[in-house]
Amino acid sequence: TRKIIIDTDPGQDDAVAILLALASPELEVLGLTAVAGNVPLALTELNARKIVELAGRPDIPVFAGCDRPLVRPLVTAEHVHGKSGLDGIELPAPTVPLQTQHAVDFIVDRLRREDSGTVTLVPIGPLTNIAQAFRQAPDIVERVQEIVLMGGAYFEVGNITPAAEFNIFVDPEAAAEVFAAGVPLVVMPLDATHEAVTSRDWVEGMRALPGRCGPAIASWTDFFERFDKEKYGSEGAPLHDPCTIAWLLRPDLFTGRHINVEIETTGKFTTGMTVADWWRVTDRPANANFIRHVNRDGLFRLLADRLARLP
Ligand code: BDR
Ligand code: CA
Repeated sequence: TRKIIIDTDPGQDDAVAILLALASPELEVLGLTAVAGNVPLALTELNARKIVELAGRPDIPVFAGCDRPLVRPLVTAEHVHGKSGLDGIELPAPTVPLQTQHAVDFIVDRLRREDSGTVTLVPIGPLTNIAQAFRQAPDIVERVQEIVLMGGAYFEVGNITPAAEFNIFVDPEAAAEVFAAGVPLVVMPLDATHEAVTSRDWVEGMRALPGRCGPAIASWTDFFERFDKEKYGSEGAPLHDPCTIAWLLRPDLFTGRHINVEIETTGKFTTGMTVADWWRVTDRPANANFIRHVNRDGLFRLLADRLARLP
């Protein structure tokens, strides 16, 4: 099994990513670390606790991390995720407590405690907690096995500005530090995740599952779909964040290139852009496996198979 820490700002697609990880015996989820992003921290940590409770996994510790980006004011996305961040279904107040330790301290401690090279970080929100952990404890950087993150866009360009994807845009300084850290990096950008859109059949399959998780997933993706429908006129909800977990389970479902990716932090119109040297026109060293495509049928078969195991 592979040990992972999911750093998250749930988020309906974050929720599906977390459930996918919890349903997969190949992965050991050491904890969820919440960050401010789609909605403020008080809601993302609450949502994270609701999700582990829904999954019947109150043993998964949930930590609250940074409540704002390293240097900028927080930008949120209620227009996509709803007021709660997890609109679509009303879940009961969780009984799972919030851990008292700060998420950044948890990340640092855990990376120091586990054997070097055995913990993978899976950030599916802004990169504030990860950058803060690397600032606070530079010794942990070389202990990270890999970072598999959702963020960025290149050919598809932006969803929050014309040039930038939300997670990177919210905290570009944090992203720049993480991309420069020298840790093996897998980047799941919009280029890939906009191919990971639900079909009506898939959603109805979820709704028909006998447990409580399937119907919750269907309600979430229904809510999440509305934004793309209104905005782009497209059918289906893009399951951005679950692509990171799917990559850990089935990397063969994805194709990408190992290239240089830089984060724009001072652009006039392009702050938060992931400048991907896809055609290798510079001699800047490769620092990321930048994913471009996903096998949609394979992905949704994997998701259906795993999510059906949940209560
Ligand atoms: C990313 O932003 C959030 O709204 C989603 O949860 C995902 O992590 C997509 O741009
Ligand atoms: Ca997210």
